[in-house]
Amino acid sequence: MAEEAVLGFLEKNEEISDSGQFAADRGIDHQELTNIIKRLSGFRFVDAQDIKRERWVLTVEGKTYAAAGSPEMQVFYSIPPPGISLEELQRKLDPSVFKIGCSQAKKNQWVEMGKQLVTRKVDNVEDKVKDLLNRVQDGETIDPKELDALKRRKLIAPQTWKGYSVRKGPNYAPKRKIFATDLTRDNLLRFEEMPTNNFVESSFWNFDALFQPQQHPARDSHDTFFLQVPSTTKTLPEDYVERVKRVHESGGYGSRGYGYEWKREEANKNLLRTHTTAVSSRMLYLLGQQKKFTPKKYFSIDRVFRNEAVDRTHLAEFHQIEGLVCDRGLSLGDLIGVLNNFFLRLGMSKLKFKPAYNPYTEPSMEIFSYHEGLKKWVEIGNSGMFRPEMLRPMGLPEDVRVIAWGLSLERPTMILYGVDNIRDLFGHKVDLSLIKKNPLCQLGME
Ligand code: PHE
Repeated sequence: MAEEAVLGFLEKNEEISDSGQFAADRGIDHQELTNIIKRLSGFRFVDAQDIKRERWVLTVEGKTYAAAGSPEMQVFYSIPPPGISLEELQRKLDPSVFKIGCSQAKKNQWVEMGKQLVTRKVDNVEDKVKDLLNRVQDGETIDPKELDALKRRKLIAPQTWKGYSVRKGPNYAPKRKIFATDLTRDNLLRFEEMPTNNFVESSFWNFDALFQPQQHPARDSHDTFFLQVPSTTKTLPEDYVERVKRVHESGGYGSRGYGYEWKREEANKNLLRTHTTAVSSRMLYLLGQQKKFTPKKYFSIDRVFRNEAVDRTHLAEFHQIEGLVCDRGLSLGDLIGVLNNFFLRLGMSKLKFKPAYNPYTEPSMEIFSYHEGLKKWVEIGNSGMFRPEMLRPMGLPEDVRVIAWGLSLERPTMILYGVDNIRDLFGHKVDLSLIKKNPLCQLGME
């Protein structure tokens, strides 16, 4: 692995003086190596200095001559010993090769351009241009005068090569521990990211599909931003809407429902999604539409909106991390195990769970973590098992259970990094130089 090669080399040596050479010696792709150096330098494992080098590369024209010979050479070899008429010569060659080749061959005194006949002036010629072009391509150093001639003929062009010299950084270690929060291939393969690219959502997916009654205080404009334009959604899956209506009004699947008159107009109202669980409900509905059920693990990290008074710990826009596991026969024990594992890998090892209430989960648990700095338990997330009133109308089989959890991205970040005002972390008051100067952010501790 290229990362190990870099860290391993620096364990025994002062410096990698040139990433280009380092990559070439080890058969590593230089682009891949520079990506690794950038990442290691983000984590301050290494200090990297830019190296820039001007080098010459062949233009498209230059490349054709390097392969097929220079135009003057092509002209020379198209002339038979007795000579050839200009028209005939022209017919034999590509127009640009003919034009450039004739003028260069004449300049080189290789040919005599008579009125009637074009003839060779010498017996043998050497294709210096082709030779030089091939040497440039191989990265050899060329006499500046010759280089200049190729440049004037636009057969070569300068290109800036960028690489790095690398030394140990303040966080250097011969091996880097990979965190759960690092975007690794392995992590990507085990969970699927949910498509969260819709900030505007209908009340239906944000609330109704989640068995949240229409009179619930969260559905008030004091808590939720509703849209004025467009104020309502255009389409919803009608047969599913019907099942949701029924479960709210009179229950089913062993439930008594809420016993109120469910209104379609309320479900149609557009809003800025108040939680990413709106996306989870869409994903689970899709899963319920499959002919054959397949277990899934989903996650998302994205923006949510709440109509809240802004203070040191609250913003009207923030981010949620959401995870869910959907499989047959999962239990509360699975949820507790997954949460312990999940938060441990974010650097929070002491957790407590407190029974809570969500309209869409039963049982529900708030998650608390012991904060060593503050010496107290702090709430870090919310979780539960989705209710049958939510899952069954979606068409999921009876024995399928979904364990799910959600947390804000900002809260644990504030705790882990000792930030006491959320506005220093996100929003228009963030100090730009802080963003520029800070290394890549990583949730996690040794
Ligand atoms: N949606 C909840 C919130 O916004 C979090 C949550 C997600 C709770 C999934 C339970 C299950 O706080």
